[in-house]
Amino acid sequence: MLKKEITDALNEQINKEIYSAFLYMSMSAYTNDLVLKGFANWFMVQYHEEMYHAMKMYEYIQSQGESVVLKTVDAPPTSFDSPLDAFEKTLAHEQVVTQSINDLMDLAIQHRDHATKIFLEWYVTEQVEEEDTAGDMIAQLQMIGDDPHALLMMDRELAGRAASIPVDFSKGVEQEGE
Ligand code: FEO
Repeated sequence: MLKKEITDALNEQINKEIYSAFLYMSMSAYTNDLVLKGFANWFMVQYHEEMYHAMKMYEYIQSQGESVVLKTVDAPPTSFDSPLDAFEKTLAHEQVVTQSINDLMDLAIQHRDHATKIFLEWYVTEQVEEEDTAGDMIAQLQMIGDDPHALLMMDRELAGRAASIPVDFSKGVEQEGE
């Protein structure tokens, strides 16, 4: 059982994670239009990661005997100035998500909800990685500048990214570990 304020905040966070998924799917579509298929792959894997974040929270709410409440997901932006712009917006977005997770953690601590606090620790760690990765992408694209050859080399590298989490949630998010 969870306090109502905690359940409501977790449901809000599901919405934010699904918005994140939409945002990265939109970035995948944008980079696909640029024929940067490796970038498109990277962002589509990120889409799956975000849906995993949402589903992990979805299952936690249910495991506590509470109800999942899904809400309207905002439309993401559909155009970007460049791949660099997309990654700068990725980092800015992840910083907002980090703040949101920190707020949730504060709420769990305030309510002495130890189970939710332990559950949220996974997200706290994940956000460090998400911001670090986006920062690395920005640094690499800044080094590349206007060099199309280097951009294509990076595109080939990003084509190799595969999802490290389950993408079929019908059997639950923990089916293959994390
Ligand atoms: Fe689910 Fe990228 O934070």
